[in-house]
Amino acid sequence: MKLYFTIAISVLTLGSSQAADIDNGDDLHFTNCTGCHDDSVYTRENRLVGSLPRLGAQVRFCKDSLGLTWFDDEVEDVIGYLNQTYYHF
Ligand code: HEC
Repeated sequence: MKLYFTIAISVLTLGSSQAADIDNGDDLHFTNCTGCHDDSVYTRENRLVGSLPRLGAQVRFCKDSLGLTWFDDEVEDVIGYLNQTYYHF
């Protein structure tokens, strides 16, 4: 019984660290990321970001310039949200 419980917890933890939580990314983005630019920068013709690694780098850059201390999971959630909603890499 105890063993089963441990396995169930591990599966849950693994699952949450692998898949980005798009809704959480949406919330984090809405709360923190609309002060300097709106979402039109993600879809403009000459946008800066041209690949998924570049998107990750840009999200980290903007997050750091805001002084936000997000966990890696939260960074991944925002990357997932932006990619699914705007970039589609
Ligand atoms: C302190 C101001 C500021 C805040 C707040 C900010 N950004 Fe940015 N962001 C910038 C600037 C400046 C650029 C470059 C815009 C340009 O070149 O016109 C940029 C560009 C971007 C781009 C690239 C757009 C493209 O051209 O493809 C992404 C993605 C991005 N920001 C994500 C975020 C995220 C995620 C957050 C919240 C953590 C955030 N930004 C908050 C200043 C900010």
